[in-house]
Amino acid sequence: MKLSTFATGILGLAVSVSAQTDTAPFEDADTGIVFQSSTIAEGITYRLALPANASGDSAYDVILQVVAPIELGWVGWAWGGMMTYNPLTVVWADGENVVYSSRQALGYYLPAAYEDATYTVLKGTGVNETHFKFTALCTGCASWADFDGNPTYLNGAGDTNFAYAFSETPVEEPANSDSSFSIHDNVGHWIHDLAGARSDKFSEWVGNLSPQPPQLSRTLVLDNGAYTIKAGFVAGEDADEKPRVIPNCIVRDRDRKTYVGSGLGACKDFSEAAFRRPVEKGFVVNWEAEKEIWEREFFDDKAPQPCDPSETRLLLTEPSNSLPILQTNCDQVVFEEFGFASYYRGIGPSFNAYHDIQAILRTPRDPQTVAQLPVEILLLIDTGYSHTTVTPLLHGRPLHSAVRRLDIGGKFLTNYLTRLLSLRHYDMRNEPHIVNEMKEAACYVSLDFARDLELTWKGTRGERREPYLAGSGGIAKDYVLPDFHTRSRGVVRDFSPAAASRARKHLAVGEASEDVLTLRNERFSVPELLFRPSDIGMRQLGVADLVMESLAALPVGLWPGLLANVVVVGGCSLFDGFVERLQKEIVKLVPDECIVRVARPEDPIACTWAGGANLARHEHIDALAVTKQEYEEYGATWVARKFTTGLSFDP
Ligand SMILES: *[C@@H]1O[C@H](CO)[C@@H](O)[C@H](O)[C@H]1NC(C)=O
Ligand SMILES: *[C@@H]1O[C@H](CO)[C@@H](O)[C@H](O)[C@H]1NC(C)=O
Repeated sequence: MKLSTFATGILGLAVSVSAQTDTAPFEDADTGIVFQSSTIAEGITYRLALPANASGDSAYDVILQVVAPIELGWVGWAWGGMMTYNPLTVVWADGENVVYSSRQALGYYLPAAYEDATYTVLKGTGVNETHFKFTALCTGCASWADFDGNPTYLNGAGDTNFAYAFSETPVEEPANSDSSFSIHDNVGHWIHDLAGARSDKFSEWVGNLSPQPPQLSRTLVLDNGAYTIKAGFVAGEDADEKPRVIPNCIVRDRDRKTYVGSGLGACKDFSEAAFRRPVEKGFVVNWEAEKEIWEREFFDDKAPQPCDPSETRLLLTEPSNSLPILQTNCDQVVFEEFGFASYYRGIGPSFNAYHDIQAILRTPRDPQTVAQLPVEILLLIDTGYSHTTVTPLLHGRPLHSAVRRLDIGGKFLTNYLTRLLSLRHYDMRNEPHIVNEMKEAACYVSLDFARDLELTWKGTRGERREPYLAGSGGIAKDYVLPDFHTRSRGVVRDFSPAAASRARKHLAVGEASEDVLTLRNERFSVPELLFRPSDIGMRQLGVADLVMESLAALPVGLWPGLLANVVVVGGCSLFDGFVERLQKEIVKLVPDECIVRVARPEDPIACTWAGGANLARHEHIDALAVTKQEYEEYGATWVARKFTTGLSFDP
């Protein structure tokens, strides 16, 4: 910066008076504000509106407006009508933007930044083909400390002398409000009628024209599972009671008709339907398909849960130990393609720490006690569609080194059941939907596998043992398959030997009334894989052993706390007997003195979502989430690091 370029600047106005103009009322069409307005030479207009009670006794805010031809490099307003020790407002255009700068001159050099005047830019600020226009609320323009430090107030009830200055030479760095600028081309005074600038509509104008803070009172909480999406909104203190459960798939039926997401409800015949799922093994691997589903559910004209991303925060689940490249893809889609205003991505299990876990565990206590969230200690088991994970959490933070995973979930079990059925009954390989329903309706986790196996044992030489014929002690069930005419879903019935033989006869004479499968050990040997993957030769640990492996990675001091607070969520936890069996197995494996408590929330499918909804209302979320602006400013790597670090993030 050359001293000569800013040696005087706006300061010269004390010595050169070139114009003198009075003010007149003016109603600004853009804002509806009635100003006292003064247009000086060069087509520069200065306008002012004051509160009705403005006087010379105390400080008050003002609304100011400056309109100037875009040819000018800068335009200034000296509030004391003099050179130094009074607030200066300097305004210029930078392309489409209007830049303002609050300054004060203390001598013969470039006026320095002045912090005692603050501006709120109001509507009615912009640049057109010929002019730029600046409209702002200013606190500290109409009062200041003079050279001796004495407070000075503009007399709002009378005439006052203001000074202006301008230059045709552009400022050095138009985008920077701290830019230096050259000496003025012209300066002068005008007399402003402040009494006439007063209005009792002042507050109303400020309220109507102030920039609205982005409407982030709304959060879309998405538990984006491989099988279903759980979606719902949180607004302020209110949250949807339950999420909407949306199939996370695109289906093409036999007639090549396509169903997207919840549109699947319209599909009446699932025989031979082809499923496309964007999430595999917990990871979004097909964003094109995922976007199509999200579009339909949230952003289309007819979306069942309409959402304007530019005014919404998104809370999204991801699996543990996701790959950085997949995370970056996801962040990019969220901000660049959908344009969410704010966003947090966290592992599903950790959302569950924002539940009153003691209520889920039915711990007796004083009803007045308010749960501290996130909970201090929690061992969360999530057994979903793609896999089963064990995640220890302290104060809502996952202990990553102790997270364990079993590659068995609902999908695997359905496939296994399909294999068994195809071997023993019908070829069901093209009917995963039907088999899945059958699994959900008829399978259970055995509390005594050896006994149940014995009861369902047919005999080695086909001799049909007594318990087998009698229905295996209640284990045998008949499953009536859907025919998609009279029955769109299958039905479980008590086993009836007579019905089975009748059906066989019907089949024999070619007049099948209904397709019935008798299920026996399929009912419990399928979910058994969660506990003993080795049954089918998988070299992985069952869920109870997985818990032990996870604990082994942690200090023994944490074991009692974790074991007393085991919560299971996810669709597979809905099998009858799952919780009891897990509890029983863990008890067998841990030291005698450890208390083991395993519980399943009332709705294990929506539980992660509901935890997310609690997090959305928790003070933590503001520290965890990232705004679109931050994403644009600091980039994807910064965002990824912030999500990984969580609450301890320190940029
Ligand atoms: C003017 O009125 C507003 C409320 O309308 C009040 O907040 C402010 O203190 C008053 N100012 C003066 C100088 O009386
Ligand atoms: C540009 O803005 C000025 C000042 O507000 C106004 O007088 C003029 O009519 C506007 N020009 C156009 C083309 O809108």
